[in-house]
Amino acid sequence: MGGEIPMDKTAASSSEEQIEEFWDLRPKRLSEYIGQGRVIESLRIAIEAALERGDPLDHVLLHSPPGLGKTTLAHIIAREMGVNLVTSSGPAIEKGGDLISILTHLERGDVLFIDEIHRLSKVVEEFLYPAMEDFSIDFVFDKGAHARSHRYRLEPFTLVGATTRSGLLSAPLRERFGLFRRLDFYTTEELSCVVSRSAQILKVSIDDEGRDEIAKRSRGTPRIANRLLKRTRDYAQVRGDGVIHRMIACEAMELEGVDEMGLTDLDRGFLEAIIHFYKGGPAGIEALAATLQEESDTLADVVEPYLLKIGFVTRSPNGRKATDRAYEYFGVQKQPGRKKQLSFSKFKKNEARGR
Ligand SMILES: Nc1ncnc2c1ncn2[C@@H]1O[C@H](COP(=O)(O)OP(=O)(O)O)[C@@H](O)[C@H]1O
Ligand SMILES: [Mg+2]
Repeated sequence: MGGEIPMDKTAASSSEEQIEEFWDLRPKRLSEYIGQGRVIESLRIAIEAALERGDPLDHVLLHSPPGLGKTTLAHIIAREMGVNLVTSSGPAIEKGGDLISILTHLERGDVLFIDEIHRLSKVVEEFLYPAMEDFSIDFVFDKGAHARSHRYRLEPFTLVGATTRSGLLSAPLRERFGLFRRLDFYTTEELSCVVSRSAQILKVSIDDEGRDEIAKRSRGTPRIANRLLKRTRDYAQVRGDGVIHRMIACEAMELEGVDEMGLTDLDRGFLEAIIHFYKGGPAGIEALAATLQEESDTLADVVEPYLLKIGFVTRSPNGRKATDRAYEYFGVQKQPGRKKQLSFSKFKKNEARGR
């Protein structure tokens, strides 16, 4: 066995999540969870059915860009099922022994939440297969001709996996989940509800227009909505009368580098690199990461999904291309014939402006 249980190793790694926990902004029950209608409905049915039968819930895989509510849902599932939640993450479970240690401590029906499950090592994954399928693990003693294995039965449990990249999950792992759900970006109306709810919990005064302005600029993401609400609250307190109106919200978010569409400096840098440096594309993600001096994972997980969603970029096997909409956003003319020369001079101009 692998000694210490690596539970909650990663829970402390994200200070933003911790701050949010502190303020208790996470919905606690399915009924409080805003948006994601079909996902919530199918989970509600699966939970109710499992409770009625007295069975553990089937394994659940949740996929979405960061900040859309995967961790929140894992907590809610455990609460609705009335069981313990044990959390860990792909990179935290280094050896097979780490996983065995976690699994053998689970009680009947418990939820094991593995965040970033696409980052589990191959070795650990192989331990997970029989655990998920038959609730058992095989210990192997000795090596070579003397190798013996002993099957250890586990209590039935529910694995909830979260990933920002379902494509990186191996097929055998993906197939062992009974429920595979994708969370989509939230609508502005849904984010307005998130902002209202959070403002109430934080005891912030905000009018409808201020609320909608924050929602509109939150990139379809509740975590961003909560963060912008907090920054705007600070701004209103220091520069205003403590109440969040539309003007105060606009000023606060300009200061954060968040524009009317919710795009940040990094989003704009990404688009400008494609338009000006790669002449509209296609540009590979690694090449863009090198140009922007950013992690390619950040571009693929955080930047690109939203730009795809709003139709500013398209993706092909050759790379990313900027769409007409993206050109319009920057007020740049597409010049098919003399594209090369013009684009390059524009890029230089932007560089000179310090972009
Ligand atoms: N459906 C929702 N309704 C209200 N708030 C939400 C919802 N989903 C997420 N949030 C808020 O956004 C934050 C980020 O969600 P989280 O579950 O940590 O996202 P993920 O795990 O997908 O990165 C949470 O702390 C919570 O306050
Ligand atoms: Mg999370």
